[in-house]
Amino acid sequence: MKDTALNVPMADLRAQYQALAPEIDDAVLSVLRSGRFGLTDSVAALESDIAMLCGAEHGIGVNSGTDALLLSLMALDIGPGDEVITTPFTFVATVETIALLGATPVFADVDAGTFNLDPERTAEKITRKTKAILPVHLFGQMADMDSLGKLAGAHNLPIIGDAAQAIGCAYCDQAVARHSLLTILSFYPTKNLGAAGDAGMVLTSDETLAEKLRYLRFHGSKGTYHYKYVGICSRLDAVQAAVLGVKLPHLPDWNEQRRANAAFYDTAFAETPDLIRPCCLPQNVHTYHQYTLRIRGGQRDALRAFLAERGIDTGVFYPQPLHLQEAYVGYGGKPGDYPEAERASAEVLSLPVMPELTEAQREYVADTVRAFFHGKNHASKGDSPS
Ligand SMILES: Cc1ncc(COP(=O)(O)O)c(C=O)c1O
Repeated sequence: MKDTALNVPMADLRAQYQALAPEIDDAVLSVLRSGRFGLTDSVAALESDIAMLCGAEHGIGVNSGTDALLLSLMALDIGPGDEVITTPFTFVATVETIALLGATPVFADVDAGTFNLDPERTAEKITRKTKAILPVHLFGQMADMDSLGKLAGAHNLPIIGDAAQAIGCAYCDQAVARHSLLTILSFYPTKNLGAAGDAGMVLTSDETLAEKLRYLRFHGSKGTYHYKYVGICSRLDAVQAAVLGVKLPHLPDWNEQRRANAAFYDTAFAETPDLIRPCCLPQNVHTYHQYTLRIRGGQRDALRAFLAERGIDTGVFYPQPLHLQEAYVGYGGKPGDYPEAERASAEVLSLPVMPELTEAQREYVADTVRAFFHGKNHASKGDSPS
Protein backbone atom coordinates (compact mmCIF):
# COMPACT_ATOMS: atom_id res chain seq x y z
CA MET A 1 0.00 0.00 0.00
CA LYS A 2 1.42 3.36 -1.01
CA ASP A 3 1.98 5.75 1.92
CA THR A 4 2.17 9.33 0.71
CA ALA A 5 2.10 10.87 4.18
CA LEU A 6 5.66 12.16 3.96
CA ASN A 7 8.15 12.93 1.25
CA VAL A 8 11.77 12.78 2.29
CA PRO A 9 14.37 14.28 -0.07
CA MET A 10 18.13 13.68 0.18
CA ALA A 11 18.70 17.44 0.47
CA ASP A 12 16.37 20.38 1.06
CA LEU A 13 18.25 23.43 -0.16
CA ARG A 14 15.14 25.61 -0.14
CA ALA A 15 14.61 24.92 3.57
CA GLN A 16 18.28 25.68 4.25
CA TYR A 17 17.98 28.98 2.39
CA GLN A 18 14.68 29.93 4.08
CA ALA A 19 16.22 29.49 7.53
CA LEU A 20 18.95 32.04 6.67
CA ALA A 21 17.17 34.09 3.99
CA PRO A 22 17.46 37.60 5.50
CA GLU A 23 21.23 37.23 6.12
CA ILE A 24 21.95 35.61 2.76
CA ASP A 25 19.91 38.22 0.91
CA ASP A 26 21.74 41.04 2.70
CA ALA A 27 25.16 39.55 2.05
CA VAL A 28 24.50 38.90 -1.65
CA LEU A 29 22.86 42.29 -2.20
CA SER A 30 25.78 44.07 -0.61
CA VAL A 31 28.15 42.37 -3.11
CA LEU A 32 25.85 43.32 -5.99
CA ARG A 33 25.69 46.91 -4.78
CA SER A 34 29.46 47.08 -4.31
CA GLY A 35 30.14 46.21 -7.95
CA ARG A 36 33.15 44.15 -6.81
CA PHE A 37 32.85 40.48 -7.74
CA GLY A 38 36.40 39.15 -7.89
CA LEU A 39 38.95 38.25 -5.23
CA THR A 40 37.73 40.79 -2.69
CA ASP A 41 38.66 41.16 0.97
CA SER A 42 35.61 39.11 1.92
CA VAL A 43 36.87 36.23 -0.25
CA ALA A 44 40.22 36.47 1.55
CA ALA A 45 38.44 36.50 4.94
CA LEU A 46 36.48 33.37 4.00
CA GLU A 47 39.68 31.66 2.81
CA SER A 48 41.33 32.32 6.11
CA ASP A 49 38.27 31.26 8.21
CA ILE A 50 37.92 27.97 6.34
CA ALA A 51 41.66 27.29 6.43
CA MET A 52 41.66 27.81 10.21
CA LEU A 53 38.63 25.55 10.70
CA CYS A 54 40.35 22.79 8.73
CA GLY A 55 43.78 23.16 10.32
CA ALA A 56 45.69 24.79 7.43
CA GLU A 57 47.63 28.04 7.15
CA HIS A 58 46.27 28.98 3.72
CA GLY A 59 43.02 28.66 1.80
CA ILE A 60 42.91 29.34 -1.93
CA GLY A 61 39.34 29.81 -3.15
CA VAL A 62 38.58 28.40 -6.59
CA ASN A 63 35.65 27.68 -8.89
CA SER A 64 34.84 24.12 -7.79
CA GLY A 65 36.15 21.05 -6.02
CA THR A 66 37.12 19.70 -9.42
CA ASP A 67 39.29 22.75 -10.10
CA ALA A 68 40.76 22.45 -6.61
CA LEU A 69 41.93 18.94 -7.53
CA LEU A 70 43.22 20.03 -10.93
CA LEU A 71 45.10 22.99 -9.46
CA SER A 72 46.60 20.86 -6.66
CA LEU A 73 47.98 18.42 -9.23
CA MET A 74 49.24 21.34 -11.36
CA ALA A 75 50.93 22.89 -8.33
CA LEU A 76 52.90 19.65 -7.93
CA ASP A 77 53.81 19.69 -11.67
CA ILE A 78 52.08 16.37 -12.26
CA GLY A 79 51.74 15.50 -15.94
CA PRO A 80 52.51 12.96 -18.65
CA GLY A 81 54.54 9.98 -17.44
CA ASP A 82 53.50 10.47 -13.82
CA GLU A 83 51.29 8.15 -11.80
CA VAL A 84 48.89 9.14 -9.03
CA ILE A 85 47.46 6.42 -6.80
CA THR A 86 43.82 6.81 -5.86
CA THR A 87 40.57 4.94 -5.24
CA PRO A 88 38.21 3.66 -7.94
CA PHE A 89 35.28 4.16 -5.54
CA THR A 90 34.87 7.94 -5.69
CA PHE A 91 33.22 10.73 -7.61
CA VAL A 92 34.69 10.97 -11.10
CA ALA A 93 36.44 14.32 -10.53
CA THR A 94 39.13 12.67 -8.39
CA VAL A 95 40.30 10.60 -11.33
CA GLU A 96 39.23 12.85 -14.20
CA THR A 97 41.63 15.61 -13.14
CA ILE A 98 44.62 13.23 -13.07
CA ALA A 99 43.74 12.03 -16.58
CA LEU A 100 43.13 15.56 -17.88
CA LEU A 101 46.72 16.48 -17.06
CA GLY A 102 48.00 13.51 -19.07
CA ALA A 103 49.09 11.65 -15.94
CA THR A 104 47.97 8.09 -15.17
CA PRO A 105 45.43 7.32 -12.45
CA VAL A 106 46.53 4.10 -10.74
CA PHE A 107 43.81 2.47 -8.68
CA ALA A 108 44.14 0.72 -5.34
CA ASP A 109 41.19 -1.06 -3.74
CA VAL A 110 39.21 0.30 -0.80
CA ASP A 111 38.77 -0.91 2.77
CA ALA A 112 35.57 -2.94 3.16
CA GLY A 113 34.52 -1.12 6.34
CA THR A 114 35.10 2.55 5.53
CA PHE A 115 35.07 2.48 1.69
CA ASN A 116 38.33 4.49 1.84
CA LEU A 117 41.68 3.81 0.17
CA ASP A 118 43.32 0.70 1.68
CA PRO A 119 46.94 1.51 2.66
CA GLU A 120 48.19 -2.05 2.02
CA ARG A 121 46.73 -2.12 -1.48
CA THR A 122 48.16 1.38 -2.03
CA ALA A 123 51.66 0.24 -1.04
CA GLU A 124 51.51 -2.49 -3.71
CA LYS A 125 50.93 0.15 -6.40
CA ILE A 126 53.93 2.40 -5.73
CA THR A 127 56.43 2.54 -8.59
CA ARG A 128 59.21 4.90 -9.62
CA LYS A 129 56.61 6.84 -11.61
CA THR A 130 54.36 7.50 -8.60
CA LYS A 131 54.20 11.23 -7.93
CA ALA A 132 51.39 11.48 -5.35
CA ILE A 133 48.84 9.56 -3.31
CA LEU A 134 45.28 10.88 -3.50
CA PRO A 135 42.99 9.45 -0.79
CA VAL A 136 39.34 10.50 -0.72
CA HIS A 137 37.67 11.00 2.65
CA LEU A 138 34.47 9.42 1.45
CA PHE A 139 31.02 10.16 2.86
CA GLY A 140 32.49 12.40 5.61
CA GLN A 141 35.01 10.02 7.18
CA MET A 142 38.75 10.36 6.77
CA ALA A 143 40.91 7.63 5.27
CA ASP A 144 43.53 5.79 7.36
CA MET A 145 45.89 8.76 7.38
CA ASP A 146 48.25 7.23 9.91
CA SER A 147 49.16 4.36 7.58
CA LEU A 148 48.94 6.42 4.39
CA GLY A 149 51.08 9.16 5.95
CA LYS A 150 53.77 6.64 6.94
CA LEU A 151 53.69 5.09 3.48
CA ALA A 152 53.94 8.46 1.74
CA GLY A 153 56.72 9.54 4.10
CA ALA A 154 58.73 6.36 3.43
CA HIS A 155 58.60 7.05 -0.32
CA ASN A 156 58.86 10.82 -0.07
CA LEU A 157 55.49 11.27 -1.80
CA PRO A 158 53.04 14.12 -1.29
CA ILE A 159 49.45 13.40 -0.28
CA ILE A 160 46.55 15.31 -1.82
CA GLY A 161 43.51 14.73 0.37
CA ASP A 162 40.15 14.88 -1.41
CA ALA A 163 37.96 16.31 1.35
CA ALA A 164 35.15 17.40 -1.00
CA GLN A 165 32.80 15.46 1.30
CA ALA A 166 34.73 16.00 4.52
CA ILE A 167 34.71 19.60 5.71
CA GLY A 168 34.70 19.56 9.53
CA CYS A 169 36.21 16.07 9.76
CA ALA A 170 39.08 15.12 12.01
CA TYR A 171 41.36 12.12 12.41
CA CYS A 172 43.20 11.40 15.69
CA ASP A 173 42.07 14.82 17.02
CA GLN A 174 43.67 16.65 14.08
CA ALA A 175 41.51 18.55 11.61
CA VAL A 176 41.25 17.31 8.05
CA ALA A 177 43.89 19.52 6.37
CA ARG A 178 46.61 18.62 8.89
CA HIS A 179 47.06 15.20 7.29
CA SER A 180 47.97 16.13 3.71
CA LEU A 181 50.30 18.51 1.92
CA LEU A 182 47.27 19.72 -0.04
CA THR A 183 43.60 19.23 0.82
CA ILE A 184 40.68 20.07 -1.43
CA LEU A 185 37.12 21.08 -0.56
CA SER A 186 33.96 21.33 -2.65
CA PHE A 187 31.15 23.76 -1.89
CA TYR A 188 28.74 22.21 -4.38
CA PRO A 189 25.26 23.19 -3.12
CA THR A 190 24.43 19.81 -1.55
CA LYS A 191 27.74 19.50 0.30
CA ASN A 192 27.81 19.97 4.11
CA LEU A 193 28.81 23.58 3.38
CA GLY A 194 27.21 24.50 0.07
CA ALA A 195 27.37 27.62 -2.10
CA ALA A 196 24.62 28.84 -4.44
CA GLY A 197 26.44 27.31 -7.39
CA ASP A 198 29.92 25.92 -7.89
CA ALA A 199 32.82 26.78 -5.59
CA GLY A 200 35.79 25.04 -4.00
CA MET A 201 39.03 25.57 -2.11
CA VAL A 202 42.57 24.24 -1.80
CA LEU A 203 44.07 24.17 1.70
CA THR A 204 47.75 23.94 2.54
CA SER A 205 50.24 25.02 5.15
CA ASP A 206 53.04 25.18 2.59
CA GLU A 207 53.66 28.86 1.83
CA THR A 208 55.37 28.21 -1.52
CA LEU A 209 52.57 25.98 -2.82
CA ALA A 210 49.93 28.44 -1.58
CA GLU A 211 51.56 31.25 -3.51
CA LYS A 212 51.87 29.11 -6.65
CA LEU A 213 48.17 28.16 -6.36
CA ARG A 214 47.19 31.84 -6.14
CA TYR A 215 48.92 32.35 -9.48
CA LEU A 216 47.59 29.16 -11.07
CA ARG A 217 43.92 29.99 -10.35
CA PHE A 218 44.37 33.39 -12.06
CA HIS A 219 45.87 32.43 -15.46
CA GLY A 220 49.29 32.04 -13.85
CA SER A 221 49.43 35.70 -12.92
CA LYS A 222 48.54 38.03 -10.09
CA GLY A 223 46.31 39.99 -12.43
CA THR A 224 49.12 42.15 -13.77
CA TYR A 225 49.36 40.74 -17.33
CA HIS A 226 52.61 39.08 -16.34
CA TYR A 227 52.31 35.28 -16.60
CA LYS A 228 54.62 33.31 -14.36
CA TYR A 229 52.93 29.90 -14.94
CA VAL A 230 50.50 28.37 -17.41
CA GLY A 231 47.35 28.64 -15.31
CA ILE A 232 43.59 28.49 -15.59
CA CYS A 233 40.68 30.81 -14.75
CA SER A 234 39.29 29.57 -11.46
CA ARG A 235 38.56 32.16 -8.81
CA LEU A 236 36.05 31.89 -5.97
CA ASP A 237 33.77 34.83 -6.70
CA ALA A 238 32.50 37.32 -4.15
CA VAL A 239 28.82 36.32 -4.49
CA GLN A 240 29.57 32.68 -3.62
CA ALA A 241 31.87 33.81 -0.82
CA ALA A 242 29.03 35.94 0.61
CA VAL A 243 26.68 32.94 0.72
CA LEU A 244 29.36 30.69 2.21
CA GLY A 245 30.28 33.34 4.78
CA VAL A 246 26.70 33.37 6.11
CA LYS A 247 26.48 29.58 6.22
CA LEU A 248 29.92 28.84 7.71
CA PRO A 249 29.06 29.64 11.37
CA HIS A 250 26.19 27.11 11.12
CA LEU A 251 28.39 24.27 9.86
CA PRO A 252 29.30 22.84 13.32
CA ASP A 253 25.59 22.60 14.28
CA TRP A 254 24.67 21.13 10.90
CA ASN A 255 27.39 18.49 11.20
CA GLU A 256 26.19 17.74 14.74
CA GLN A 257 22.65 17.30 13.45
CA ARG A 258 23.90 14.93 10.74
CA ARG A 259 25.65 12.87 13.47
CA ALA A 260 22.44 12.84 15.53
CA ASN A 261 20.46 11.60 12.52
CA ALA A 262 23.11 8.93 11.88
CA ALA A 263 23.01 7.83 15.53
CA PHE A 264 19.22 7.58 15.32
CA TYR A 265 19.44 5.30 12.26
CA ASP A 266 22.25 3.26 13.85
CA THR A 267 19.98 2.48 16.80
CA ALA A 268 16.94 1.91 14.62
CA PHE A 269 18.78 -0.63 12.45
CA ALA A 270 20.68 -2.45 15.19
CA GLU A 271 18.61 -5.61 14.74
CA THR A 272 17.83 -5.38 11.02
CA PRO A 273 19.04 -8.42 9.08
CA ASP A 274 20.83 -8.07 5.73
CA LEU A 275 21.77 -4.47 6.44
CA ILE A 276 25.22 -3.29 7.51
CA ARG A 277 25.39 0.10 9.20
CA PRO A 278 28.17 2.60 8.41
CA CYS A 279 31.41 1.88 10.23
CA CYS A 280 32.79 4.93 12.04
CA LEU A 281 36.28 4.25 13.37
CA PRO A 282 36.99 5.62 16.87
CA GLN A 283 39.86 7.84 15.67
CA ASN A 284 37.51 9.62 13.25
CA VAL A 285 35.14 12.54 13.67
CA HIS A 286 32.58 11.62 10.99
CA THR A 287 30.45 14.34 9.42
CA TYR A 288 28.04 12.05 7.55
CA HIS A 289 27.96 13.81 4.23
CA GLN A 290 26.23 10.54 3.43
CA TYR A 291 24.74 7.89 5.72
CA THR A 292 25.57 4.84 3.67
CA LEU A 293 24.33 1.33 4.38
CA ARG A 294 25.38 -1.89 2.76
CA ILE A 295 22.42 -4.01 1.72
CA ARG A 296 23.26 -7.69 1.41
CA GLY A 297 21.68 -10.49 -0.57
CA GLY A 298 21.21 -8.51 -3.79
CA GLN A 299 18.30 -6.59 -2.23
CA ARG A 300 19.65 -3.02 -2.63
CA ASP A 301 17.71 -2.07 -5.73
CA ALA A 302 14.47 -3.60 -4.43
CA LEU A 303 14.83 -1.67 -1.17
CA ARG A 304 15.53 1.50 -3.11
CA ALA A 305 12.39 1.04 -5.22
CA PHE A 306 10.34 0.22 -2.10
CA LEU A 307 11.48 3.47 -0.46
CA ALA A 308 10.92 5.52 -3.64
CA GLU A 309 7.33 4.25 -3.88
CA ARG A 310 6.83 5.58 -0.37
CA GLY A 311 8.24 9.04 -1.11
CA ILE A 312 11.76 8.47 0.26
CA ASP A 313 14.73 9.55 -1.85
CA THR A 314 17.95 7.59 -1.59
CA GLY A 315 21.32 7.71 -3.34
CA VAL A 316 23.69 5.14 -4.79
CA PHE A 317 27.17 6.59 -4.54
CA TYR A 318 28.56 5.12 -6.75
CA PRO A 319 26.80 2.64 -9.02
CA GLN A 320 29.95 1.62 -10.91
CA PRO A 321 33.57 1.92 -9.81
CA LEU A 322 35.68 4.10 -12.06
CA HIS A 323 38.01 1.37 -13.34
CA LEU A 324 34.98 -0.14 -15.13
CA GLN A 325 33.66 3.13 -16.58
CA GLU A 326 33.95 3.53 -20.34
CA ALA A 327 36.14 6.65 -20.08
CA TYR A 328 38.64 4.96 -17.76
CA VAL A 329 38.89 1.31 -18.86
CA GLY A 330 41.86 2.42 -20.97
CA TYR A 331 43.85 2.59 -17.73
CA GLY A 332 43.76 -1.19 -17.58
CA GLY A 333 40.96 -2.04 -15.14
CA LYS A 334 38.78 -5.10 -15.63
CA PRO A 335 36.04 -6.77 -13.58
CA GLY A 336 37.47 -8.44 -10.48
CA ASP A 337 40.53 -6.15 -10.20
CA TYR A 338 39.17 -4.15 -7.25
CA PRO A 339 36.70 -6.53 -5.60
CA GLU A 340 35.86 -4.35 -2.60
CA ALA A 341 35.05 -1.34 -4.79
CA GLU A 342 32.93 -3.56 -7.03
CA ARG A 343 31.09 -5.12 -4.06
CA ALA A 344 30.50 -1.67 -2.57
CA SER A 345 29.00 -0.40 -5.84
CA ALA A 346 26.54 -3.31 -5.80
CA GLU A 347 25.58 -2.94 -2.13
CA VAL A 348 25.63 0.71 -1.01
CA LEU A 349 22.53 2.77 -0.34
CA SER A 350 22.58 6.26 1.18
CA LEU A 351 19.60 7.46 3.21
CA PRO A 352 18.53 11.08 3.80
CA VAL A 353 20.72 12.45 6.64
CA MET A 354 20.55 16.20 5.94
CA PRO A 355 20.44 18.50 8.97
CA GLU A 356 16.96 19.71 7.96
CA LEU A 357 15.52 16.21 8.42
CA THR A 358 12.65 16.32 10.93
CA GLU A 359 12.19 13.70 13.64
CA ALA A 360 9.01 12.55 11.89
CA GLN A 361 10.89 12.16 8.60
CA ARG A 362 13.75 10.13 10.05
CA GLU A 363 11.35 7.89 11.97
CA TYR A 364 9.39 7.35 8.76
CA VAL A 365 12.59 6.46 6.88
CA ALA A 366 13.70 4.01 9.59
CA ASP A 367 10.24 2.41 9.87
CA THR A 368 9.99 2.03 6.10
CA VAL A 369 13.44 0.42 5.82
CA ARG A 370 12.53 -2.01 8.62
CA ALA A 371 9.16 -2.72 7.00
CA PHE A 372 10.96 -3.77 3.82
CA PHE A 373 13.04 -6.36 5.64
CA HIS A 374 10.10 -7.46 7.76
CA GLY A 375 8.10 -7.94 4.56
CA LYS A 376 10.98 -9.87 3.00
CA ASN A 377 10.94 -12.30 5.90
CA HIS A 378 7.27 -12.87 5.27
CA ALA A 379 7.90 -12.92 1.52
CA SER A 380 9.67 -16.26 1.91
CA LYS A 381 6.39 -17.51 3.35
CA GLY A 382 4.42 -16.17 0.41
CA ASP A 383 3.95 -12.43 1.09
CA SER A 384 5.28 -9.50 -0.91
CA PRO A 385 7.14 -6.67 0.82
CA SER A 386 4.65 -4.13 -0.46
C1 LIG B 1 34.85 13.06 -3.63
C2 LIG B 1 34.63 14.26 -4.52
N1 LIG B 1 35.68 14.81 -5.14
C3 LIG B 1 35.54 15.88 -5.93
C4 LIG B 1 34.31 16.47 -6.14
C5 LIG B 1 34.20 17.61 -7.09
O1 LIG B 1 33.66 18.74 -6.50
P1 LIG B 1 32.83 19.81 -7.40
O2 LIG B 1 31.50 19.20 -7.70
O3 LIG B 1 32.73 21.00 -6.51
O4 LIG B 1 33.62 20.08 -8.61
C6 LIG B 1 33.19 15.95 -5.50
C7 LIG B 1 31.86 16.56 -5.69
O5 LIG B 1 30.85 15.97 -5.82
C8 LIG B 1 33.34 14.80 -4.67
O6 LIG B 1 32.31 14.25 -4.03
